[in-house]
Formats: sequence, C-alpha cells, structure tokens
Amino acid sequence: MAMSRRSFLAATGVAGVAAGTGLLTACSSGAKPVTGANGAPSSLEVFSWWTAGGEKDALNSLVAEFNQHNPNIKFVNDAVAGGAGADAKAVLARRLAAKTPPDTFQAQAGAMVGDYITAGQLEDLTFLYQQEGWDKSFNQQVLKLIQRDGKYYSVPVDIHHINVLWSNTQLCKSLGISTAPSDMSQFLSNLHKVKSAGFIPLAVSRDPGQEWQVKHIMETVLVSTLGADAWAALWKKGGDWGSQQVAEGLHMFNEIMSFAPGTGSAVSWDQVSALVGKGQAAYQIMGDWTEANFTVTMELTPRVQYNWAPVPGTQGLFLFASDCFTLPIGAKDREATVAWLTVCGSQGGQDAFTSVKGAIPPRSSITPDELTLFDPYLQWSLDEWKKNTIVGSLTHGVVATGAWNTAVDAAVTTYLTDSDVKKLQQGLVQAAQTHAT
Ligand code: GAL
Repeated sequence: MAMSRRSFLAATGVAGVAAGTGLLTACSSGAKPVTGANGAPSSLEVFSWWTAGGEKDALNSLVAEFNQHNPNIKFVNDAVAGGAGADAKAVLARRLAAKTPPDTFQAQAGAMVGDYITAGQLEDLTFLYQQEGWDKSFNQQVLKLIQRDGKYYSVPVDIHHINVLWSNTQLCKSLGISTAPSDMSQFLSNLHKVKSAGFIPLAVSRDPGQEWQVKHIMETVLVSTLGADAWAALWKKGGDWGSQQVAEGLHMFNEIMSFAPGTGSAVSWDQVSALVGKGQAAYQIMGDWTEANFTVTMELTPRVQYNWAPVPGTQGLFLFASDCFTLPIGAKDREATVAWLTVCGSQGGQDAFTSVKGAIPPRSSITPDELTLFDPYLQWSLDEWKKNTIVGSLTHGVVATGAWNTAVDAAVTTYLTDSDVKKLQQGLVQAAQTHAT
C-alpha cells in the first residue's frame, strides 16, 4: 500500500496519539505481537530528548506502532527537553549512578553508547539480534558502532544526516543567491549578500547551553576542510589537532560564524530553523531533524519553500549519527523493554519513526513500497547514504565519548565569548590529549 508521509501522519493522528492504527504494519512485515509480562498490563518508561519540532511527532508515531503490537503495555514518556540531549544526558547519568534507570533510554551509536557499555550499564542484546535476524538485515556500518566484543548493545532506530545546509528557497531566490553553494568561498559571498540585505545570513543560537548548535557547524566545516580520512584520524590516539589544516578549518569556521549574529529569543534548534522557514534567515547548518520541523510542524513544501544541500565542500560525504535504544541493567520491566526494542528494530517501527523524524531507516534494504513514505528530501538522503563516503559525527555521539565532547563544548563556549580561534584550537588539542584512547 503506497502512502505519502503527510497522509500517513494524518491517518495516524500522531499529534495526540493514544493507540496505533498499524497502518504501516498493514503494508509491511512489522514486529511480532507481544503483551505485558505474563499477559498482565505493564508499563514502559522510555527516556529520550525528543520533545521539540517534529521529534515528538516522530516519537508518537513510533508509539502508535508499539501500541498496535502491545496493547497491554502502557507507554510512559520520560523525555527531557533540550536539543541533542544537552540536558537529558546529565539527568540520565544521575539516574544510572543511582541505579534507577528508565526501562529504556535513547543513546547514539558509536562512542556514546560505548560509554554505557564500558560502564557496565547495558544488557547484551545479541539474543534479540539473532531472534530477529538484525545482524543480517541492518546496515553493517551502523552495526559495527553498537557492538563490543562481537555482542550487540542497542537497537538503532534511525540514521540522521548531519552535514546539511538548509535554506529558505524564496529568500535566496529574491537575493539572487544559490541554495546550494558549491564551495566555501561562494557560501561566504552569499552570506555577505544576505547580510547586506538586512536578513540573518546563518541562523544559530549563541546562547549558553546551546553551544552544541555551534559545535555542529564547526564539525561540518572541519569535515569540509579536512575530508573523510583526516577527520577520522583526529579521533584516534595521536590525532594531530594542532595541524595547519585544522587551523585553516577553524579560521573558515570563524569567518562563517561572523555571519551568525545570534537569533534573539529563538534559542532552541527548532525555533532557529523556524527563522529559516519563515524567511527571516537564509541558511541553517543542522541535522535533518530540521526537515521534520519544516515539513511536519511548519507544513512547508520541500524545494519550494525550503531547500537543502550538502554543507559546501562536503559533497560526496555523509556525516551521520544514529539514535538507538537500550536495555539498561536493572530495568524495572525487562519484558516490556524487549517488546519496545523489537518494534524499534522492525520494519514497521523504523518506517513509522524515520518517515516522520526526517531520518532514514538503518536497515540495509528498503522496499519500493516503503520509499513511498519518504518525501523528496528523505529520498535524496537515502540516495546519498547509498553512494557517499560515510563519516561519523562528533556532536551526535559517533566519534567521541561524552567526556571528550564535554571538553570540546568547553572550548566552543569560550570561543563564543572571545572569538579567539587560536585558543579554540589549543582547547581542542588539550581535549584530545586528555580523552583520546
Ligand atoms: C540529535 C539526535 C536527533 C535529534 C537532535 C536534536 O543528537 O540524534 O535525534 O533529536 O539531537 O534534538
């Protein structure tokens, strides 16, 4: 059954979901039905940071699919607001330290989930991978990032595209500038034109606590300057953060940031992207959860009202992150968590979630029927994922541990107060010396 993303949303009524309709299940293999422990009603506390923009709609869509298969398990939404988990990660750390974990929590494939594995906080999920055949059906690059010693420790639910330049189509057109600048020098000249016309050239919050938005820009510019291999080398022990190439990347980042004056009271990533959606700002560099904000929340039309392109200089590269869910040791309702994870890994669960979230599914093959759920942006992203070189994100958990990220955050926060690029590079060198293993 073919169904567009918008009509899928309307049909499930995800904005206020109470029970699923199983629409996607009807057209896909879906997950096996599971009830609560011993058939009794049970509850499932799901911890995430999905509260903004299309994030909450995507979570609701996944819950609708879960409810369809698990009518006896009550979903309890334990989300903590704050883009990129800026606040949620700290709350979660306290709960894990107190040994009162939620039944399942959002993590990110790569170093971030590695932190929880190292701390002995996660159950091995290899049995579920074998039972569901996920070791064969999931993308192998993603699988590597959730494994330790041949065992699987989480279930990926999406793949997000990080190096995306979003733009307001009409504003760019009226200023005679491209929504897809081919390189950084063309991008800078476009930013200059937007500034001269009195609009915000690049929308990003400069508020304390939102430094992750700036770090996100910084990492895309570094990837643009360094390329895939040199970027990957930075995250290994002995990576040369003091190099001339890193200095050049940071200088370019600094030039770009000089066109990012801040966004007033629009602070969270979705408020910032709304400035682009409304034509008050020309560009935003952000992950593709922004797409859900444009399409699902603001009801804008892809290409016509907003546009996208790789961050200049990253053509051919797909900088990515992957959200996943876990089974924490000591979860109150283990059986309900396994039921949740089963849906997260299923075709029905991943389609319900990703088609609303602005992400693509982490399974290795997508059927032609599923493709009809994905709008033009998602089809583009899927295509890029297939043909591009895959590169791991810093800000969203792939290449660096939480502690390393925190050290980078400190350097970025200082940069936001003094714009001192040399000091920023020294901070990054120091962070690597302390945290690379
Ligand atoms: C990322 C996460 C996305 C999205 C974004 C903004 O770290 O992978 O799923 O939620 O933060 O909050």
